Amino acid sequence: MPPLPNDAGTSTPLTRRNFLARLGVLSAAVAGAGLLTACGGVPLAVTPITRPENSDSPLTEAASAKAMLFGAATGQWCLQSDPQFAAAFAQHAGLLVPENELKWDTVEPQPGVFNFGPGDWLADFAARNGMLFRGHTLVWHNQTPSWVGVNVTSAQAEQQLTNHIAQTVAHYAGRVHSWDVVNEAINPGDGRSDYLRNTVWLNALGPGYIETAFRAAAAADPAALLVYNDYGFEYDTDDAALRRAGILRLLTSLKASGTPLHALGIQAHLEGTTTAGFTRLPGFLQQIADLGLKIFVTELDVCDRSLPADTQTRDTIVADVYQRFLDVVLQQIAVAGVITWGLSDRYTWLSQFAPRSDGRPVRPLPLDGNYQAKPAVWAILNAFNAAVRRGA
Ligand code: XIL
Repeated sequence: MPPLPNDAGTSTPLTRRNFLARLGVLSAAVAGAGLLTACGGVPLAVTPITRPENSDSPLTEAASAKAMLFGAATGQWCLQSDPQFAAAFAQHAGLLVPENELKWDTVEPQPGVFNFGPGDWLADFAARNGMLFRGHTLVWHNQTPSWVGVNVTSAQAEQQLTNHIAQTVAHYAGRVHSWDVVNEAINPGDGRSDYLRNTVWLNALGPGYIETAFRAAAAADPAALLVYNDYGFEYDTDDAALRRAGILRLLTSLKASGTPLHALGIQAHLEGTTTAGFTRLPGFLQQIADLGLKIFVTELDVCDRSLPADTQTRDTIVADVYQRFLDVVLQQIAVAGVITWGLSDRYTWLSQFAPRSDGRPVRPLPLDGNYQAKPAVWAILNAFNAAVRRGA
């Protein structure tokens, strides 16, 4: 098992407070300068993205040419109420992930009462349009009803966990490409030496809950790819280094115990003003690949809340982040696909979770609010075009 901490060259964890302070400094510098440099004069932008020859190609086609996947998250209501969006989605995405419809609070709102209606609608939409379907997510500390794991013995808690997984995974067995079995189980800031996040499951079952969850999922659908998914470990920051160390240690120990685990999901909610690079990521991805795991980018978007107001400048910087990140990540042959968290700026969680203070609509995704390709589409195409074709 790899030692903790980490590959950062320092073991000082970043506290939430100084992390936020640092983000604040960066944002202020960008807003103040109006353009293109942050503290220390590190350039934020960037030459415009090169337009690829296949600039009109659907993203899924460019991915398939390299035996990779391109997909996106979305929800039932926007596909159902907006045919133009549904058409754009079907054109670009080769895989669909329900943004919320398969989370515990939707699927099992009351103990033993299951609701697969919204998930089924999305699974049918995917099937009708020749897309793969991906499950997100079985075990997470958010969007989980308050009765889960509370006021129960540990045997009852385990029963709740395994029953939820067994019912849900069995319901979609044969229709699912992959499941995010456990989401965001690492949080070094919680202060444990193994960097596991303090959750209801950790309290009820101890660290073994993760292995239990994967085994329950494999039993219910032996054909699905089972994924461990997490965030915040992409950049060259001390905080990300601690997360990488925690994830590597967790996945190493799961593999050592023969847990049915097949892939790591990199959420990749990236930040337009962050000046840290991605130079430490390749070494980490190689360690993950050496465990025999595949890798997916699972929730890619680029937050533009602190970028300059000008649309063209913003789109250029956002596209540059897509390009730099994917150029690094797709060099790792174990990376088998890229999924964005939404497809069009019209429907993005960041409108709510990271709105701009100037009130302008956020622009974190490949297509604009009218479903037209932005430079981010060219960036993704360029990255797929430059990638080595994956083996069979
Ligand atoms: C987000 C959804 O996009 C929002 O609609 C919802 O209100 C909150 O959750 N990491 C994850 C996703 O794994 O499930 C989250 O999705 C975004 C962060």
